[in-house]
Amino acid sequence: MQQAASDIVFQSYGRCCNNEQFFIDFYDRFMSSSDEVRALFVDTDMKQQRHLLRNGIMQLVLHSRGMPDTKLRALGESHSRRGYGIQPQWYSLWLQALIDTVRKHDPEFDENTEASWREAIGPGIELIRGAY
Ligand code: HEM
Repeated sequence: MQQAASDIVFQSYGRCCNNEQFFIDFYDRFMSSSDEVRALFVDTDMKQQRHLLRNGIMQLVLHSRGMPDTKLRALGESHSRRGYGIQPQWYSLWLQALIDTVRKHDPEFDENTEASWREAIGPGIELIRGAY
């Protein structure tokens, strides 16, 4: 039987998330993708932010495994126009930076890993993005 996307992603993230460099590389990539994105983090404590993102990605992964969406709803609220004002079109840059960083850090990464990430965390990202 083929492995579920959420299992593939759970294991792939496990091979990435214990390395601080994964999160450093993610933000380098993400901030390089747009001057507007970079500007949002000028006053951010990035060490703290990397720690928060480790947990945020885990929330997306757990959501794909059936966890309630309470934490993602809170992220939707903080990122919305009532909060940081994160524009909906920026989420595709976020996802692309994540995929590219997983490709670099997961030694078992292949096409199926990429498709599984997109399938598993897509709905959770849409939930956050849709709260705008
Ligand atoms: C803060 C996760 C997408 C910009 C945070 C925090 C988390 C998080 C966990 C800290 C908790 C909070 O403040 O609510 C995520 C996840 C995303 C995502 C899982 C993908 C769905 C984005 C995008 C942008 C962005 C696309 C910008 C284009 C920010 C900013 C902060 C933040 C500016 C606050 C930084 C500060 O405190 O100075 N994010 N985020 N996020 N995020 Fe996101």
